[in-house]
Amino acid sequence: MRVFAPATVANVAAGFDILGFAVGEPGDEVTARLAEQPGVRILRIEGDGGALPLEAERNTAGVAAREVLALAGRRGGIELEVRKRMPSGSGLGSSAASGVAAAVAVNALLGGPLRPEELLPALLEAERVACGTAHADNVAPALLGGFVLVRSYRPLDVVRLPTPAELWCALAHPQLEIRTADARRILRDRVRLSDAVVQWGNTAGLVAGLLLGDYALIGRSLQDVIVEPVRAVLIPGFARIKEAALDAGALGCSISGSGPSVFALARGAAAARAAGDAMASAVRGFGLPCDVWVSPLGGRGAHVVGAEDPS
Ligand code: HSE
Repeated sequence: MRVFAPATVANVAAGFDILGFAVGEPGDEVTARLAEQPGVRILRIEGDGGALPLEAERNTAGVAAREVLALAGRRGGIELEVRKRMPSGSGLGSSAASGVAAAVAVNALLGGPLRPEELLPALLEAERVACGTAHADNVAPALLGGFVLVRSYRPLDVVRLPTPAELWCALAHPQLEIRTADARRILRDRVRLSDAVVQWGNTAGLVAGLLLGDYALIGRSLQDVIVEPVRAVLIPGFARIKEAALDAGALGCSISGSGPSVFALARGAAAARAAGDAMASAVRGFGLPCDVWVSPLGGRGAHVVGAEDPS
């Protein structure tokens, strides 16, 4: 089974660890095959420049595959091949995409014993191995597609949100690496009540904007007063990149996941492209190469893109 899983934008400004959405591209691909020898083996990883571990226990795809076997109560063997189509440490949910693609591929190989939502515990465990915390705001949208709210972690309660038809995303990826674990370590674990009030207003405002199809409300709500100000220092020229997106007509702009990628939401494809180009030229102005992707929100979650006939 060959499965594609998309990149994801986590946090979406005010929704640290609770909001995320899938984009159309980039994304990772994982091929899973049944094997005689029990256990999970990763045969090869393409596109990572040799950076990721082949050892299944240390790799998100390997851990996700192992956990799906356990959840399904199967003992068989699995071989995986991982094709990375996005950089690690980019803030695009790279580890989540590989884990989700592996989980969906293994579940499909087994004949689909688990519903997509039932794969989430396996995926949280894979995220924990990848970055030290089991956050769901990348894996849930990579799995389910579209825009997802993690209403609660204990118990896990994940809600799919609608997205207005003309809502597009531009992603700019300055070519440097930020490890999620490092970007989490610098956060304070206490917040001021007055900041929390602003953040709650923006989180609820964004959800209301999506439900009402109110683009101006979505734009006003893309404001993070707790996490973005701390992490912005990790991204050279962040204030200038954000200003460039807003000047080009974006509704709002913030850090994608733990960075360094920056996302902007815009109404329509043309406005999103303009925001993407403006962000990229701001990034390049600070001496860093930059990749740009533009896609509508509400994209598909992980899905099978090919199957080999074992016979
Ligand atoms: N919510 C997570 C964080 C996403 O911001 O640390 C990491 O991609």
